[in-house]
Amino acid sequence: MLPRHIGIIMDGNGRWARQRGLQRTDGHRAGIQTIRKVMQAADRAGVHHLTLYAFSTENWSRPAEEVGALMGLFEETLAKEVDELDASGVQIRVIGRRGPLTTGLRRLIDAAEARTRGNRTGMLCVAINYGGRAEIVDAVRSLAQGGADLARVDEAELAGALYTAGLPDPDLIIRTAGEHRMSNFLIWQAAYAELHVSPTLWPDFGERELELALQDFAARQRRFGGVAG
Ligand code: IPE
Ligand code: IPE
Ligand code: MG
Repeated sequence: MLPRHIGIIMDGNGRWARQRGLQRTDGHRAGIQTIRKVMQAADRAGVHHLTLYAFSTENWSRPAEEVGALMGLFEETLAKEVDELDASGVQIRVIGRRGPLTTGLRRLIDAAEARTRGNRTGMLCVAINYGGRAEIVDAVRSLAQGGADLARVDEAELAGALYTAGLPDPDLIIRTAGEHRMSNFLIWQAAYAELHVSPTLWPDFGERELELALQDFAARQRRFGGVAG
């Protein structure tokens, strides 16, 4: 079985840079290059929905210089890649709290989403200033603001108010760089996702590592709380 939707916690850019005597931001720059490689490999493997964790609500606690460099990289990359992604039929979606992002980045996000809205070949969802807890809080707030009866709210209604409304839940979450934790990524949507931890640092992750994750996934038996079949 192939996962329909893969979520990736792209971790290890800082360690990759340190191992080479480089700055952390050099690691982030290298990590950006990996995205294209992995998107192409996923597409060849038949997986057309990806959600990439690029910046968490907790990542603001990093040095201002690193945060600034990351935001600059997001702007640069979005501006540079949108034409090709659009031409390949990829729909771009960005999830997370947009308020704290720079005006320039917000504009690029809005434009990329508007332009690719009708694309159906693939979906690239990027989580920027994303936190699973913040997402759930935002969903409850938007339901309340929309006049929903919160005493009767159900799972479908709450799911429909999340940033990911309309996206299939991830079947597989890959985390690179060896840490076994979710770090606030898609905590609602990943309730029944399979987890694959790769020891490889994100800038070194590629087709072979993705293939290993897909093999690992294919060998899992998903039960969703039922009995073994
Ligand atoms: C992941 O790499 C990128 C972001 C969280 C933005 P890290 O920067 O967390 O790399 P390590 O974990 O320090 O190696
Ligand atoms: C998770 O990585 C966030 C992103 C990949 C954007 P972190 O490096 O921030 O996570 P922790 O601090 O190791 O949990
Ligand atoms: Mg990290």
